[in-house]
Amino acid sequence: MPEPCPRRPPRVVNVPAELVIVANRLPVDRVTGPDGEPEWRASPGGLVTAIEPVLRANNGVWIGWPGGTDSGLEPFEHDGLTLDPIALSAEEIEGFYEGFSNATLWPLYHDVVAKPEFHREWWDSYVDVNRRFAEHAAARAAKGAMVWVHDYQLQLVPQMLRELRPDVHIGFFLHIPFPPAELFQQLPWRRQILEGLLGADLVGFQLPGGAQNFVRLVRQRVGHKTHRDLVYLPDGRTVRASAFPISIDVKGFEKLARQESVTARAKEIREALGGPRRIFLGIDRLDYTKGIHARLRAFSELIAEGELDVEDAVFVQVATPSRERVEQYRVLRDDIDRLVGRINGDHGRIGTPAISYLHASYPREEMAALYRAADIMVVSPYRDGMNLVAKEYVACQYDDGGALILSEFAGAAYELRQAWLINPYDLNGMKAALREAYHADAKDLSRRMRAMRKTIKSADITAWARSFLQAMDEVRPAHGKTLLPADRD
Ligand code: G6P
Repeated sequence: MPEPCPRRPPRVVNVPAELVIVANRLPVDRVTGPDGEPEWRASPGGLVTAIEPVLRANNGVWIGWPGGTDSGLEPFEHDGLTLDPIALSAEEIEGFYEGFSNATLWPLYHDVVAKPEFHREWWDSYVDVNRRFAEHAAARAAKGAMVWVHDYQLQLVPQMLRELRPDVHIGFFLHIPFPPAELFQQLPWRRQILEGLLGADLVGFQLPGGAQNFVRLVRQRVGHKTHRDLVYLPDGRTVRASAFPISIDVKGFEKLARQESVTARAKEIREALGGPRRIFLGIDRLDYTKGIHARLRAFSELIAEGELDVEDAVFVQVATPSRERVEQYRVLRDDIDRLVGRINGDHGRIGTPAISYLHASYPREEMAALYRAADIMVVSPYRDGMNLVAKEYVACQYDDGGALILSEFAGAAYELRQAWLINPYDLNGMKAALREAYHADAKDLSRRMRAMRKTIKSADITAWARSFLQAMDEVRPAHGKTLLPADRD
């Protein structure tokens, strides 16, 4: 976790940067502290650990929105990184962020788990904000620099930036799933989005399936020639579309999990829960893609049927507040509140609830303590680009204990094959997995966990950044310059 920033962050000189990161969010959010003064806090999402070593090695700059509507913020340094804030107006937050990004693209890209809304004024706002990000990146990039654009909020930036700065190398990485053609085609602006992405030299996806969906759509909708993961444009450029499954700082999480303070806190959590035989855990942004409802139902049915007893088993569900002004997120919050209330009302005893529900966000230390306290981690999204919580849990189990129940529809299931894999739409299947993990013997648990730990150790976040940058060098060699960070211990 980065240190809190001084109240008045040092301003930095606008020198052209060799590496420019463009993401909707900066790694820190500008918030108002308890005394009414502005403060900087870690923003949602784990991109910073991935990008930090590359940024540091190249004296790069990170362009993004600091949350809120403050305008006129100057570039500043935070924890040794140069950050360059872009302001959004209240109308842009509504149209670009809450609207097109999170009520159109987010549900559309997640298998239409919720119904996407299509509004022309949201699209206009998306175009305007993407243009502002592209102009900003164009102004900050040195000649021949690399600009790395992130995620679904900024899919038009690659093309807009290329028009402004044909000399720069452009990479794009999509952190969420890229949907099959059958769903993507609903989007009235489908061609513009595809063309926007094709402005990049390299388009990265979490899984090969996403890359294949994209290439197929480009061939069918835009009419370009393609071969495997390559797209050939009429102007002679080649764009590569491949998978780069993202990871976490495995060593960093393990180190944290081994800290005495974390061990002590994990013990405290277990005691506070009344020392149950098994603790089940869910940690998610409060999002309808995460399958929170389904997993709580599966758990409560096992209690109702007498398979589990609240004296022996408790479900701790942490739901981090997210996108709270978007209608579907409000509805979800009410639904989960009601469900938890009903389950605890029906099955809880005095001092022993069936579900311990926390609507809050916690620092990394507390998360690590929860991961250490939990016997069974339940990750049950209906669709998820990767799901880093699953990897974080595995990284913290340095003694090869603990069980992971993981949805087949999370990108992480592609790598973590030894988890109990479930289909979150199949309630009986999910109940069977919960039951099995609850009764699993230590030998089975450690065999599974050891294999999963081996997998994540061989593909951590540094390896991810490295493989993307290497692929960039291959697609468009940067004249002998390399942005790869030196190996870290
Ligand atoms: C997902 C997205 C990120 C986003 C994060 C938090 O992980 O892929 O782009 O930043 O959620 O959501 P928020 O809307 O708060 O930025």
